[in-house]
Amino acid sequence: MDGWVRVRAAGKVNLSLRVGPVRPDGYHPLATVFQAVSVYDDIHVRMAPGGEFPLSIEGEQAHLVPTDGRNLAVKAARLLAEEYGDPEVHGAEIRIRKCIPVTGGMAGGSADCAGTLLACAYLWDLDVDMAELAELGGRLGADVPFALYGQSAIGTGRGDHIMPVLSRGPFHWVLAFADFELSTPAVFRAFDELGLATEELGISQGLLEALASGDVHALAEHLVNDLQAPALELAPQLKKLLKAGKKLGALAGIVSGSGPTCAFLAASEADAIDLSARLGASGLCRAVRRVTGPVPGARVL
Ligand code: C5P
Repeated sequence: MDGWVRVRAAGKVNLSLRVGPVRPDGYHPLATVFQAVSVYDDIHVRMAPGGEFPLSIEGEQAHLVPTDGRNLAVKAARLLAEEYGDPEVHGAEIRIRKCIPVTGGMAGGSADCAGTLLACAYLWDLDVDMAELAELGGRLGADVPFALYGQSAIGTGRGDHIMPVLSRGPFHWVLAFADFELSTPAVFRAFDELGLATEELGISQGLLEALASGDVHALAEHLVNDLQAPALELAPQLKKLLKAGKKLGALAGIVSGSGPTCAFLAASEADAIDLSARLGASGLCRAVRRVTGPVPGARVL
């Protein structure tokens, strides 16, 4: 062994994202169904002197991510050392290879955070279980607990209370990555300004049945995202992309989380291959990527 612990962490799409009125703490109550999909960041860690967390990032969008103490991976390693380890002894060199789009609505930062928690728990041989890691992760970001568990799950509270749901698969998605970012807080602010809050937060039974039975046509009918309207308000060019995706063969298209990534559901793998070629040639997005879901959450390789 070369001393590195390697963890792979997946991105996500929200199949249903219902958002309530803003709370006094600035967060919004959610009822969401997450699905982890096969676009991954790889997080490698090895021992460093106590309290030191040097971080390097590679990938097309690496320049968009801070590598200092603001990075969620560094915060995760530091918090884990403080709560379950020994900050005098435990440090970690962290390397991240990013494929999940940055500020793209796919919880890439949360995946890095979850991956680092898991990797450092292994590296330092800590006595900590998944539920405890999820609790720590939830303090750092609302999507971090889901990034640990992966698969398909309902998220409530701020999105950080996770309940697994049965899902057959694979479902075939084509992701369209944008050449710009959307800030999640800005999308939530636009949501508030548009007065769109859903009062009765819930998950449709039809969606859960579609997942359980693997019925892609029924799933397509139940995709919903309360953050789509504010995301389209801030980035109207996505309307054209969503329309094009449907015209080019998607069963449905939706903004992923707070965007700007759009996720298109295809009826089959063959349809996804066709759709990704057509969308890629459309000139309406930076890149396309074919993925499947559900896939596992953060895991040691
Ligand atoms: O928890 P996280 O840092 O990922 O959230 C980023 C921002 O998204 C929050 O600061 C908040 O503005 C917004 N947010 C929200 N309600 C949620 C989750 C996130 O308003 N349930």
